[in-house]
Amino acid sequence: MPLLPTIVPSMILASLSAPLQAPYLTQFRTPPTKNNRTTTHIIIGTAHIPCNSAMEVRNAINALKPDALVLELDAERYELLCQMSSNSSTSYYGAEFRAAVSCAENNSIPIFFGDQKPQETLRALFSPATPILFPPPIPNNSTINVPQTLLSDPLKFLPLLPSTLLLPYLPPDPLTLLALALFLYRTYSIGILNRDAVLAENACHAAATMHRLQRKDVWRARFTINTSSALRSPPPLPSSSLPLFTTKRAIGHNESRRLSLFEPRWLRLVDFLSANPGAQVGLVNASNKVYTPKNESTRFADLILERKARMCDLVSVSETTRNVSGDRKAVIVLKGGAELIDVDESSVIFDNGLPLVVCDDTGKRNTVNENDETEKTVLSVVGLVHANGVMANIEKMIERSNEIKL
Ligand SMILES: *[C@@H]1O[C@H](CO)[C@@H](O)[C@H](O)[C@H]1NC(C)=O
Ligand SMILES: *[C@@H]1O[C@H](CO)[C@@H](O)[C@H](O)[C@H]1NC(C)=O
Ligand SMILES: *[C@@H]1O[C@H](CO)[C@@H](O)[C@H](O)[C@H]1NC(C)=O
Ligand SMILES: *[C@@H]1O[C@H](CO)[C@@H](O)[C@H](O)[C@H]1NC(C)=O
Ligand SMILES: *[C@@H]1O[C@H](CO)[C@@H](O)[C@H](O)[C@H]1NC(C)=O
Ligand SMILES: *[C@@H]1O[C@H](CO)[C@@H](O)[C@H](O)[C@H]1NC(C)=O
Ligand SMILES: *[C@@H]1O[C@H](CO)[C@@H](O)[C@H](O)[C@H]1NC(C)=O
Ligand SMILES: *[C@@H]1O[C@H](CO)[C@@H](O)[C@H](O)[C@H]1NC(C)=O
Ligand SMILES: *[C@@H]1O[C@H](CO)[C@@H](O)[C@H](O)[C@H]1NC(C)=O
Ligand SMILES: *[C@@H]1O[C@H](CO)[C@@H](O)[C@H](O)[C@H]1NC(C)=O
Repeated sequence: MPLLPTIVPSMILASLSAPLQAPYLTQFRTPPTKNNRTTTHIIIGTAHIPCNSAMEVRNAINALKPDALVLELDAERYELLCQMSSNSSTSYYGAEFRAAVSCAENNSIPIFFGDQKPQETLRALFSPATPILFPPPIPNNSTINVPQTLLSDPLKFLPLLPSTLLLPYLPPDPLTLLALALFLYRTYSIGILNRDAVLAENACHAAATMHRLQRKDVWRARFTINTSSALRSPPPLPSSSLPLFTTKRAIGHNESRRLSLFEPRWLRLVDFLSANPGAQVGLVNASNKVYTPKNESTRFADLILERKARMCDLVSVSETTRNVSGDRKAVIVLKGGAELIDVDESSVIFDNGLPLVVCDDTGKRNTVNENDETEKTVLSVVGLVHANGVMANIEKMIERSNEIKL
């Protein structure tokens, strides 16, 4: 990654702006919506190597008490990080993310994944259709002071060194240099600038979700899943059960959806469906889904769910095995029905991780006045090379959404 070009413009910018109290922090308070809702977006710029970042993140969370935490990770990298954290000898990478996760758990703060999968970034890199962004957006209101951050904690320079070490080896031929510069800019644009936009979008999604949670549009479900191998053949479900699937995308009426299932809790559901032909299931949209592995037999789940689930018919079930491990896997096809049912914290239980609708006296939620003013704080933990770009994108998105409302 050509990290150097990012730092240079940020350095110039940052030295022009008035620094916040800490040089690695920047914040932006959105103007109030017509319902007086505001969000304070705070970005903390970190280095993912051993340095002061972990301590800075811990202090920031304890001092600012954010309502939500956005991490520059995707679900897969998060899981890897959590597995690494049980072993301190492999904890070279991402100590600041681990500190953030631990603080979030201690304070019940929901975590949101801010980044796309590395495969998506790679795909974009090799796709000629990916647009190249010129030039990097600049935050209006406050920027992270990159030079001061680096000077006060020189260890943060380390990730930048590889690109500077390349400099003496650059070929002297100007055309080759030009080609290399274009190549590097393209990599920079796709690897950094495009991801700044993704991170900003997810920070705004986190803010919107927390406001919806406040006015009880959505609800939060936290539960433990026992993944111990002793539970591979769990008790069957009672035949009157209405199980729920939780997916990141809602299903429409008449829409078909294919789901691949291999976790024991879902295979238990597959067994139930095979034994009860004609049984229906619900499908509920999750605004956020985070699973944290604790040890070899326990996972914590933290979901934010919609209050409506669509009733679905089972079209087909087929049993296969997973490619590498050979473990059991089922592929089921659902079709969305016309009926929507209410689901919420009083009607759904999690039977070892399997959501079951146990009663239908929902709809009694206390609706919060739409005009209740709320203020939410979202803290995003991102690498120093992203920090100012993410903030600029957030400002741009807020401005655009205000224009739409006006
Ligand atoms: C929003 O807050 C302002 C100032 O506190 C107040 O004057 C206004 O009535 C509020 N608007 C709503 C819709 O609550
Ligand atoms: C941590 O990792 C090292 C090297 O991979 C391994 O030797 C050690 O057993 C691990 N410790 C734990 C507690 O898992
Ligand atoms: C979270 O709480 C645990 C147990 O009280 C403690 O050991 C840990 O240091 C805390 N984490 C942070 C980041 O404060
Ligand atoms: C951003 O800065 C401009 C100029 O200093 C100021 O007018 C505006 O209110 C600021 N906006 C926010 C949301 O802080
Ligand atoms: C998980 O289930 C196994 C088998 O029933 C049990 O022995 C174990 O104690 C459970 N673990 C937890 C953390 O509940
Ligand atoms: C779903 O399919 C039924 C039967 O074919 C049809 O009557 C209905 O209009 C469809 N609804 C939607 C939303 O497509
Ligand atoms: C479902 O959740 C996703 C992710 O939060 C969201 O983008 C989408 O708008 C939701 N769809 C519905 C119908 O609620
Ligand atoms: C795993 O973690 C859970 C919850 O913290 C605990 O109850 C359980 O005993 C642990 N199991 C093992 C094998 O360490
Ligand atoms: C899994 O195996 C099937 C059949 O051998 C193959 O078609 C498929 O591409 C494989 N999938 C992956 C993800 O490797
Ligand atoms: C940023 O600055 C530009 C030019 O001064 C201005 O048009 C825009 O409204 C500002 N955006 C925000 C979010 O303050």
